[in-house]
Amino acid sequence: MVKLFGNLRVSTIPISSYSNVPTFQYSVLLPYKAMIEIINLHKSFGDLAVLSGLTLSVARGETFSILGKSGTGKSVTLKCLVGLLEPDAGEVVVDSTRVDIYSRKALSEIRKKTGFLFQSGALYDSMSVLDNLTFNLSRHHKVTHAEAKEKSEHYLTLVGLSEAIGKMPSELSGGMRKRAALARALVIEPQILLYDEPTTGLDPITSAGISELIRDMQGRFGMTAIVVTHDILCAGIVSDRAGVLKDGLLKYTGTLNELAEIEDEEVKGFFRNPL
Ligand SMILES: Nc1ncnc2c1ncn2[C@@H]1O[C@H](COP(=O)(O)OP(=O)(O)O)[C@@H](O)[C@H]1O
Ligand SMILES: [Mg+2]
Repeated sequence: MVKLFGNLRVSTIPISSYSNVPTFQYSVLLPYKAMIEIINLHKSFGDLAVLSGLTLSVARGETFSILGKSGTGKSVTLKCLVGLLEPDAGEVVVDSTRVDIYSRKALSEIRKKTGFLFQSGALYDSMSVLDNLTFNLSRHHKVTHAEAKEKSEHYLTLVGLSEAIGKMPSELSGGMRKRAALARALVIEPQILLYDEPTTGLDPITSAGISELIRDMQGRFGMTAIVVTHDILCAGIVSDRAGVLKDGLLKYTGTLNELAEIEDEEVKGFFRNPL
Protein backbone atom coordinates (compact mmCIF):
# COMPACT_ATOMS: atom_id res chain seq x y z
CA MET A 1 0.00 0.00 0.00
CA VAL A 2 1.30 3.44 -0.84
CA LYS A 3 0.09 6.73 0.53
CA LEU A 4 1.35 10.16 -0.29
CA PHE A 5 2.04 12.88 2.28
CA GLY A 6 3.56 15.97 0.69
CA ASN A 7 6.70 14.64 -0.91
CA LEU A 8 6.89 11.57 1.35
CA ARG A 9 5.51 8.25 0.31
CA VAL A 10 4.61 5.66 2.91
CA SER A 11 5.17 2.12 1.76
CA THR A 12 3.74 -0.76 3.72
CA ILE A 13 5.76 -3.82 2.91
CA PRO A 14 4.61 -7.33 3.82
CA ILE A 15 7.32 -9.58 5.21
CA SER A 16 6.73 -13.27 4.91
CA SER A 17 10.07 -14.76 3.92
CA TYR A 18 10.14 -17.26 6.80
CA SER A 19 7.30 -19.74 6.89
CA ASN A 20 7.46 -20.10 10.71
CA VAL A 21 7.24 -16.33 11.26
CA PRO A 22 3.76 -14.87 11.20
CA THR A 23 3.22 -12.38 8.39
CA PHE A 24 3.22 -8.76 9.54
CA GLN A 25 3.58 -5.38 7.96
CA TYR A 26 5.71 -2.37 8.79
CA SER A 27 5.84 1.15 7.43
CA VAL A 28 8.83 3.06 6.20
CA LEU A 29 9.06 6.62 4.99
CA LEU A 30 10.71 6.83 1.60
CA PRO A 31 11.28 10.09 -0.25
CA TYR A 32 8.80 10.25 -3.13
CA LYS A 33 10.64 10.41 -6.42
CA ALA A 34 8.71 11.33 -9.52
CA MET A 35 9.84 9.75 -12.77
CA ILE A 36 9.34 13.06 -14.59
CA GLU A 37 9.62 16.40 -12.84
CA ILE A 38 9.28 19.71 -14.65
CA ILE A 39 9.71 22.78 -12.48
CA ASN A 40 8.89 26.33 -13.59
CA LEU A 41 9.78 25.75 -17.23
CA HIS A 42 10.11 28.81 -19.48
CA LYS A 43 10.58 28.75 -23.25
CA SER A 44 10.20 31.63 -25.71
CA PHE A 45 10.91 31.98 -29.41
CA GLY A 46 11.84 35.63 -29.93
CA ASP A 47 8.93 37.66 -28.56
CA LEU A 48 6.64 34.64 -28.38
CA ALA A 49 6.48 33.30 -24.83
CA VAL A 50 5.28 29.70 -25.25
CA LEU A 51 5.94 28.22 -21.81
CA SER A 52 5.97 30.54 -18.81
CA GLY A 53 6.26 28.58 -15.60
CA LEU A 54 5.04 25.10 -16.49
CA THR A 55 5.31 22.71 -13.55
CA LEU A 56 4.44 19.02 -13.70
CA SER A 57 5.24 15.90 -11.73
CA VAL A 58 4.50 12.45 -13.14
CA ALA A 59 4.86 9.44 -10.85
CA ARG A 60 6.43 6.16 -11.92
CA GLY A 61 3.92 4.12 -13.89
CA GLU A 62 1.49 7.00 -14.25
CA THR A 63 -0.04 8.12 -17.55
CA PHE A 64 -0.58 11.88 -17.66
CA SER A 65 -2.32 13.66 -20.53
CA ILE A 66 -1.58 17.23 -21.51
CA LEU A 67 -4.66 18.77 -23.12
CA GLY A 68 -4.39 22.02 -24.99
CA LYS A 69 -5.51 23.86 -28.07
CA SER A 70 -3.26 23.94 -31.10
CA GLY A 71 -0.17 26.12 -30.63
CA THR A 72 -0.25 26.20 -26.81
CA GLY A 73 3.17 24.55 -26.45
CA LYS A 74 2.40 20.84 -26.04
CA SER A 75 5.03 19.64 -28.50
CA VAL A 76 7.51 22.20 -27.17
CA THR A 77 7.05 20.72 -23.68
CA LEU A 78 7.82 17.20 -24.95
CA LYS A 79 10.84 18.46 -26.88
CA CYS A 80 12.22 20.12 -23.74
CA LEU A 81 11.78 16.79 -21.95
CA VAL A 82 14.03 14.86 -24.31
CA GLY A 83 16.51 17.68 -24.87
CA LEU A 84 15.45 18.46 -28.45
CA LEU A 85 14.84 22.05 -27.28
CA GLU A 86 16.78 23.92 -24.63
CA PRO A 87 14.61 25.63 -22.01
CA ASP A 88 15.26 29.31 -21.19
CA ALA A 89 14.72 28.64 -17.48
CA GLY A 90 13.44 25.97 -15.15
CA GLU A 91 14.36 22.41 -14.33
CA VAL A 92 13.60 19.19 -16.18
CA VAL A 93 14.42 16.05 -14.24
CA VAL A 94 13.86 12.60 -15.73
CA ASP A 95 14.53 9.58 -13.53
CA SER A 96 16.66 11.74 -11.19
CA THR A 97 18.78 13.14 -14.05
CA ARG A 98 18.74 16.83 -15.00
CA VAL A 99 17.92 16.98 -18.72
CA ASP A 100 18.01 20.76 -19.06
CA ILE A 101 21.71 20.88 -18.26
CA TYR A 102 22.89 19.76 -21.64
CA SER A 103 25.17 16.84 -20.81
CA ARG A 104 25.57 14.60 -23.82
CA LYS A 105 25.92 11.54 -21.58
CA ALA A 106 22.72 12.33 -19.64
CA LEU A 107 20.78 12.91 -22.84
CA SER A 108 21.92 9.68 -24.38
CA GLU A 109 20.91 7.81 -21.19
CA ILE A 110 17.47 9.45 -21.22
CA ARG A 111 16.89 8.69 -24.89
CA LYS A 112 17.78 5.04 -24.36
CA LYS A 113 14.93 4.66 -21.90
CA THR A 114 12.43 6.97 -23.61
CA GLY A 115 10.14 6.04 -26.48
CA PHE A 116 8.78 8.93 -28.51
CA LEU A 117 5.70 8.63 -30.70
CA PHE A 118 5.97 11.66 -32.94
CA GLN A 119 2.95 13.69 -34.02
CA SER A 120 3.22 12.64 -37.66
CA GLY A 121 3.80 9.00 -36.69
CA ALA A 122 6.74 9.39 -39.03
CA LEU A 123 7.99 6.03 -40.20
CA TYR A 124 10.99 5.76 -42.49
CA ASP A 125 9.20 5.42 -45.82
CA SER A 126 12.03 3.66 -47.61
CA MET A 127 12.16 0.82 -45.05
CA SER A 128 9.73 -2.04 -44.49
CA VAL A 129 7.66 -1.99 -41.29
CA LEU A 130 9.95 -4.63 -39.79
CA ASP A 131 13.11 -2.71 -40.70
CA ASN A 132 11.65 0.43 -39.10
CA LEU A 133 11.69 -1.45 -35.80
CA THR A 134 14.97 -3.34 -36.14
CA PHE A 135 16.71 -0.09 -37.14
CA ASN A 136 15.37 1.74 -34.06
CA LEU A 137 16.36 -1.12 -31.76
CA SER A 138 19.90 -1.52 -33.12
CA ARG A 139 20.43 2.23 -32.87
CA HIS A 140 19.80 2.21 -29.11
CA HIS A 141 20.87 -1.25 -27.97
CA LYS A 142 23.54 -3.80 -28.78
CA VAL A 143 21.57 -6.69 -30.29
CA THR A 144 22.29 -9.28 -32.94
CA HIS A 145 20.32 -9.13 -36.17
CA ALA A 146 18.38 -12.25 -35.16
CA GLU A 147 17.47 -10.81 -31.74
CA ALA A 148 16.38 -7.52 -33.31
CA LYS A 149 14.16 -9.36 -35.79
CA GLU A 150 12.60 -11.59 -33.15
CA LYS A 151 11.84 -8.68 -30.80
CA SER A 152 10.46 -6.53 -33.60
CA GLU A 153 8.14 -9.30 -34.79
CA HIS A 154 6.98 -9.76 -31.19
CA TYR A 155 6.00 -6.09 -30.78
CA LEU A 156 4.39 -5.88 -34.23
CA THR A 157 2.26 -8.90 -33.31
CA LEU A 158 1.31 -7.26 -29.99
CA VAL A 159 -0.07 -4.19 -31.75
CA GLY A 160 -1.98 -6.39 -34.22
CA LEU A 161 0.29 -5.97 -37.22
CA SER A 162 1.59 -9.50 -37.74
CA GLU A 163 0.16 -9.45 -41.27
CA ALA A 164 1.96 -6.22 -42.17
CA ILE A 165 5.49 -7.08 -41.05
CA GLY A 166 6.95 -7.14 -44.58
CA LYS A 167 4.92 -4.23 -45.94
CA MET A 168 6.16 -0.76 -46.79
CA PRO A 169 4.70 2.19 -44.79
CA SER A 170 2.98 3.51 -47.94
CA GLU A 171 0.89 0.32 -48.04
CA LEU A 172 -0.56 0.94 -44.56
CA SER A 173 -3.73 2.77 -43.53
CA GLY A 174 -3.52 5.72 -41.10
CA GLY A 175 -4.43 3.56 -38.11
CA MET A 176 -1.91 0.88 -39.09
CA ARG A 177 0.84 3.51 -39.39
CA LYS A 178 0.09 4.66 -35.83
CA ARG A 179 0.22 1.03 -34.66
CA ALA A 180 3.54 0.55 -36.40
CA ALA A 181 4.88 3.76 -34.85
CA LEU A 182 3.74 2.54 -31.43
CA ALA A 183 5.48 -0.81 -31.96
CA ARG A 184 8.62 1.05 -33.02
CA ALA A 185 8.53 3.09 -29.80
CA LEU A 186 7.86 -0.04 -27.70
CA VAL A 187 10.58 -2.20 -29.20
CA ILE A 188 13.33 -0.47 -27.22
CA GLU A 189 11.34 -1.45 -24.10
CA PRO A 190 11.28 2.09 -22.75
CA GLN A 191 10.58 3.06 -19.16
CA ILE A 192 9.05 6.29 -20.41
CA LEU A 193 6.80 6.83 -23.40
CA LEU A 194 5.93 10.23 -24.81
CA TYR A 195 3.00 10.36 -27.20
CA ASP A 196 2.46 13.47 -29.32
CA GLU A 197 -1.13 13.58 -30.65
CA PRO A 198 -1.40 9.80 -31.11
CA THR A 199 -4.89 9.99 -32.64
CA THR A 200 -4.61 13.05 -34.86
CA GLY A 201 -5.86 12.50 -38.40
CA LEU A 202 -7.75 9.30 -37.57
CA ASP A 203 -11.50 8.71 -37.74
CA PRO A 204 -13.27 8.39 -34.36
CA ILE A 205 -13.44 4.58 -34.39
CA THR A 206 -9.78 4.15 -35.32
CA SER A 207 -8.88 6.81 -32.70
CA ALA A 208 -10.69 4.86 -30.01
CA GLY A 209 -8.90 1.67 -31.14
CA ILE A 210 -5.47 3.34 -30.89
CA SER A 211 -6.35 4.86 -27.49
CA GLU A 212 -7.37 1.43 -26.20
CA LEU A 213 -4.19 -0.09 -27.58
CA ILE A 214 -2.15 2.58 -25.77
CA ARG A 215 -4.04 1.87 -22.54
CA ASP A 216 -3.43 -1.88 -22.93
CA MET A 217 0.29 -1.40 -23.57
CA GLN A 218 0.56 0.98 -20.60
CA GLY A 219 -1.16 -1.62 -18.43
CA ARG A 220 0.98 -4.46 -19.73
CA PHE A 221 4.38 -2.77 -19.43
CA GLY A 222 3.71 -0.12 -16.74
CA MET A 223 5.65 2.67 -18.44
CA THR A 224 5.51 6.24 -17.22
CA ALA A 225 3.81 8.20 -19.98
CA ILE A 226 2.85 11.67 -21.11
CA VAL A 227 0.19 11.84 -23.80
CA VAL A 228 -0.18 15.18 -25.56
CA THR A 229 -3.57 15.49 -27.19
CA HIS A 230 -6.57 17.66 -27.91
CA ASP A 231 -8.72 14.52 -28.16
CA ILE A 232 -10.66 14.31 -24.88
CA LEU A 233 -11.89 10.80 -25.69
CA CYS A 234 -8.29 9.61 -26.05
CA ALA A 235 -7.32 11.34 -22.78
CA GLY A 236 -10.30 9.70 -21.06
CA ILE A 237 -9.24 6.24 -22.18
CA VAL A 238 -5.51 6.44 -21.50
CA SER A 239 -4.90 8.78 -18.57
CA ASP A 240 -4.69 8.47 -14.82
CA ARG A 241 -4.54 12.28 -14.58
CA ALA A 242 -4.55 15.14 -17.04
CA GLY A 243 -3.76 18.84 -17.18
CA VAL A 244 -4.87 21.72 -19.38
CA LEU A 245 -2.04 23.72 -20.94
CA LYS A 246 -3.09 27.35 -21.16
CA ASP A 247 -1.17 30.65 -21.00
CA GLY A 248 2.16 28.79 -20.87
CA LEU A 249 1.43 26.59 -17.89
CA LEU A 250 -0.70 23.71 -16.71
CA LYS A 251 -3.61 25.78 -15.52
CA TYR A 252 -5.71 22.91 -14.22
CA THR A 253 -4.75 19.35 -13.31
CA GLY A 254 -6.76 16.44 -11.99
CA THR A 255 -8.64 13.37 -13.08
CA LEU A 256 -10.79 13.73 -16.19
CA ASN A 257 -13.88 13.79 -13.96
CA GLU A 258 -12.40 16.65 -11.94
CA LEU A 259 -11.47 18.60 -15.09
CA ALA A 260 -15.00 18.16 -16.43
CA GLU A 261 -16.26 20.25 -13.48
CA ILE A 262 -13.93 23.23 -14.10
CA GLU A 263 -15.73 26.49 -14.84
CA ASP A 264 -13.62 27.62 -17.78
CA GLU A 265 -15.05 27.97 -21.27
CA GLU A 266 -11.94 26.57 -22.92
CA VAL A 267 -11.92 23.48 -20.71
CA LYS A 268 -15.65 23.03 -21.20
CA GLY A 269 -15.02 23.24 -24.94
CA PHE A 270 -12.87 20.09 -24.84
CA PHE A 271 -15.69 18.16 -23.25
CA ARG A 272 -18.42 19.65 -25.44
CA ASN A 273 -16.79 19.00 -28.79
CA PRO A 274 -14.89 15.76 -28.61
CA LEU A 275 -12.47 15.51 -31.60
N1 LIG B 1 11.50 25.79 -33.20
C1 LIG B 1 10.59 26.76 -33.13
N2 LIG B 1 10.90 28.02 -33.53
C2 LIG B 1 9.99 29.01 -33.44
N3 LIG B 1 8.73 28.87 -32.97
C3 LIG B 1 8.37 27.64 -32.57
C4 LIG B 1 9.27 26.52 -32.65
N4 LIG B 1 8.63 25.43 -32.16
C5 LIG B 1 7.39 25.84 -31.82
N5 LIG B 1 7.23 27.15 -32.07
C6 LIG B 1 6.01 27.92 -31.78
O1 LIG B 1 5.63 27.68 -30.45
C7 LIG B 1 4.22 27.61 -30.33
C8 LIG B 1 3.83 26.29 -29.70
O2 LIG B 1 4.16 25.23 -30.58
P1 LIG B 1 3.80 23.71 -30.32
O3 LIG B 1 4.37 23.28 -29.01
O4 LIG B 1 4.26 22.97 -31.52
O5 LIG B 1 2.20 23.75 -30.23
P2 LIG B 1 1.21 22.54 -29.98
O6 LIG B 1 0.56 22.79 -28.65
O7 LIG B 1 0.21 22.63 -31.08
O8 LIG B 1 2.00 21.27 -30.02
C9 LIG B 1 3.66 27.80 -31.73
O9 LIG B 1 3.28 29.14 -31.88
C10 LIG B 1 4.84 27.48 -32.63
O10 LIG B 1 4.76 28.20 -33.84
MG1 LIG C 1 2.03 19.71 -31.37
